[in-house]
Amino acid sequence: MTDRVVLAYSGGLDTSVAIGWIADATGAEVIAVAVDVGQGGEDLEVIRQRALDCGAVEAYVADARDEYAEEYCMPALKANGLYQDKYPLVSGLSRPVIVKHLVTAAREFGATTVAHGCTGKGNDQVRFEVGITSIAPELKCIAPVRDLALTRDKAIEYASRHQLPIETTKSNPFSIDQNVWGRAIETGFLEDIWNAPTKDIYNYTDDPAFPPVPDEVTISFEHGIPVAIDGEKVTPLQAIEILNRRAGAHGIGRIDIVEDRLVGIKSREVYEAPGAVTLIEAHRELENVTLEREQLRFKRGVEQKWGELVYDGMWSSPLKDSLDAFVNDTQEYVSGDVRMVLHGGRATVTGRKSETGLYDFNMATYDEGDAFDQSAARGFIEIYGLAAKQAAARAARVKG
Ligand code: ARG
Repeated sequence: MTDRVVLAYSGGLDTSVAIGWIADATGAEVIAVAVDVGQGGEDLEVIRQRALDCGAVEAYVADARDEYAEEYCMPALKANGLYQDKYPLVSGLSRPVIVKHLVTAAREFGATTVAHGCTGKGNDQVRFEVGITSIAPELKCIAPVRDLALTRDKAIEYASRHQLPIETTKSNPFSIDQNVWGRAIETGFLEDIWNAPTKDIYNYTDDPAFPPVPDEVTISFEHGIPVAIDGEKVTPLQAIEILNRRAGAHGIGRIDIVEDRLVGIKSREVYEAPGAVTLIEAHRELENVTLEREQLRFKRGVEQKWGELVYDGMWSSPLKDSLDAFVNDTQEYVSGDVRMVLHGGRATVTGRKSETGLYDFNMATYDEGDAFDQSAARGFIEIYGLAAKQAAARAARVKG
């Protein structure tokens, strides 16, 4: 039987050419796999037909938007997943769901190998391949751009020679990856890290310098998950989409950082993630109200590690699973409402309400009704400060 390869197919020039390129180089039959993670753009059916027209023997298309929102973005929200304190892991989160569908398609169509369009310099190749080996160790991986010398120029030449039904003239100077959780823009003039991003690179957000009137929004959470916006019930996907629109109109969630890639390179990345950034801001504040102090402090450290693991392609790994168990446990009481004002590039919390919170008005108040026993503070401080006091006395004695 002829060998079969499943290819992660976007519908763009490189992966369209990769279909024939892989077949020519390996003699294998190619099955195109297109996964909708909310990247927008063309209809899945159009993409399916193009794959077949470019020589794929089969095309597998999946609308994974709800699955992606529920099983990938929501765990990231619960973990307040931000790599290097800023990047909401847009690409790092989408690769594992694409991997899952690649594996399903490989098994369905009897493929032995998975192919993807990544270069040899980025994180995404690692996420695909480590993701594949972690859930389907029997599958091999191949990357035509990296392993079969499929350059941009050769792709254009191949597409015109074979008259593939794909645009070869539209050259975008940037490498863009987008899904419902956000959008990543890299390369081109952004590689000079002193160059400011120009207005035209953004798509999910409007310029925050000219915002519309402030937009007040109330997000209701249950166990760390958004369940309603302004009192209207929403699914996780709807919550992200609505906030992408509303926060995007105020230019919220634009990020410009130099980040550490897994392969050891520092790279300049611009992101826009209005929904993700707004949800994480709201969720963190609700955690401030509902998590016990030590649990909250400890969780912030866990979150950093969680983000690094996901960034580094360890979505399916023992430590990530263990951290998920911890994170899920912390979300038991993370329920309630957060009110925010969206304006001028920021989502600012202005109110919070929770039936399961730990904020106690009578403990906190300086007014009538104070239930906190201030006289107990004196003794507490004396004992609490004892170790530091003794250390200071020792230093004075020894150093003089
Ligand atoms: N640097 C980001 C990451 O590793 C974004 C990658 C975007 N991918 C792309 N093919 N443009 O998560």
